[in-house]
Amino acid sequence: MTTEPALSAASAASWDDLVERVQGCVACEELAASRTRVVPGVAPPRADVLLVGEAPGAQEDETGVPFVGRSGQLLDGLLGDAGLRRDQVAVANVLKCRPPANRKPRRTEVARCRPWLDRQLDLVDPVVVVALGGTAAEWFVGPGARIAALRDQGRVAPLLHRGRRLLVTYHPSAAIRFGPQGAPLAALREDLAEVVRVLAEVAR
Ligand code: URA
Repeated sequence: MTTEPALSAASAASWDDLVERVQGCVACEELAASRTRVVPGVAPPRADVLLVGEAPGAQEDETGVPFVGRSGQLLDGLLGDAGLRRDQVAVANVLKCRPPANRKPRRTEVARCRPWLDRQLDLVDPVVVVALGGTAAEWFVGPGARIAALRDQGRVAPLLHRGRRLLVTYHPSAAIRFGPQGAPLAALREDLAEVVRVLAEVAR
């Protein structure tokens, strides 16, 4: 089976098929050599929401599951507060492999990995996509995407990405970094509540 991302991802017939294919990806030599596991993401059937983060961290690399470390624990709590259960939402990352020492993903890595997330979007076909943090925001909106600016637009009228609603918000790690009184935590809370409002509107 080919593991060239563009060819392999495009012909993935289902989420599970894609998960199997991405395990063999060696498009980024350094990441393929340093990773413990590929972290493809998770998607329950008929998920209305797809959350997109940056890249796996140490715990995700160990377990193969996205957002299980500190950021993930905060995210679970915030989803619960908004009325969403983690097992109802799909979760994926821009990069499927952990960058060494959690460095920022390189532009070349993001480009090589792009076909996987592209195909995941089509396979999940969510009502709402939530970009968590700058790397995900740039993936959807383009280089130089600024969360503060996009979020102001996103709150009143979600952006559209290939016909789907896209909300751009802060990464949970920013909420941890800025602390309980910081703007990112408040914004994340508001924006996850907005996700629930959009879902209710669409269901009407
Ligand atoms: N941060 C991310 O962006 N993704 C994860 O899966 C974990 C931490």
